[in-house]
Amino acid sequence: MNLETTWLGLKLKNPLVPSASPLSRDLDMARRLEDAGAAALIMYSLFEEEILAEEEQLSRLMEFQDLGHGEADSYLPLHPDYRSGLDEYLEQLQALKAALDIPVIASLNGSSESGWVEHGRELEQAGADALELNIFFIPDPTQSATEVDERYVAILRRLRAAVHIPITVKLAPFFSSPGHLVLQLEQAGANGVALFNRFYQPDLDLDSLEVRPQLELSAPHEALLRLHWIGKLHDRVRLSLSATGGIHDAEQALKMLLAGASVVHQCSVLLEQGPQALTHTLDGITAWMEDKEYASLSQLIGSSCQQHSIDPEAWDRINYLNTLHSY
Ligand SMILES: Cc1cc2nc3c(=O)[nH]c(=O)nc-3n(C[C@H](O)[C@H](O)[C@H](O)COP(=O)(O)O)c2cc1C
Repeated sequence: MNLETTWLGLKLKNPLVPSASPLSRDLDMARRLEDAGAAALIMYSLFEEEILAEEEQLSRLMEFQDLGHGEADSYLPLHPDYRSGLDEYLEQLQALKAALDIPVIASLNGSSESGWVEHGRELEQAGADALELNIFFIPDPTQSATEVDERYVAILRRLRAAVHIPITVKLAPFFSSPGHLVLQLEQAGANGVALFNRFYQPDLDLDSLEVRPQLELSAPHEALLRLHWIGKLHDRVRLSLSATGGIHDAEQALKMLLAGASVVHQCSVLLEQGPQALTHTLDGITAWMEDKEYASLSQLIGSSCQQHSIDPEAWDRINYLNTLHSY
């Protein structure tokens, strides 16, 4: 059975790629994911806030040094042992590259158009095989949908100008026209998009009346939103589509691939069940393909996308009506 797939121009042995999570902070866990069958690994994110806070602190301290400020001098900000969050991230990236045979994708996470994103160059130099750009931005009511889209494209352009390796952009689903944004990102040089980031909705604590951050792992029904958009975009774009969100087993993974995803990402199920969940998914994909007599994954990727349906124009409305009438 040939499970090979091409994602962001990278040849992968199969379509299963663990998405950004704390699992990549641990080298032993990363090796276990590779042994379980992972075809590539996306690292946890390096956040814009970490980069900017350190840059600010460093420039403040250097300014004080220039003024010969005695107390500030004693902080020795440029001491050889000083390690910033970026340094630590680069070290972990290099350690993962040394420990694993599979491609390692570094992840940058932020929302502003400032130069933080140009640190992607250091990630490239440290050996990242590709970059994932996770833009997480909540607009305020004065900002139009067009302005929001332009911000995403501008951030990508800055990163594109800084690095040569492939870039995939991880998006949330909340856009007026997600497909149009994907087309714009493709034109601006994105090699892929990951659909969709999960939106962590903070709760309100009724005792303290404060916002309570809460993280809930995904459930399989969340995969349907991804299925819909991947099915709509396959054959309309040349960039790689990857599915993230709610993919817990072979059933959801196969649907994403049939709709047109080059790879599927898993996170929640790996946090819950460990690397064996990935092996289980891989075995399930192979068993289904054998049963249906597929010889290779490339035969099935995108075979059930919107463009391959009998009436692509009416696809959404018909499916919408059928869903309501099925009650
Ligand atoms: C604990 C945790 C940490 C995560 N950290 C990151 C991160 O650093 N960067 C990122 O882009 N996504 C991060 N994610 C999002 C996941 O990579 C993934 O896209 C999302 O959870 C949906 O996939 P799932 O349903 O398989 O969990 C995190 C998710 C969880 C649960």
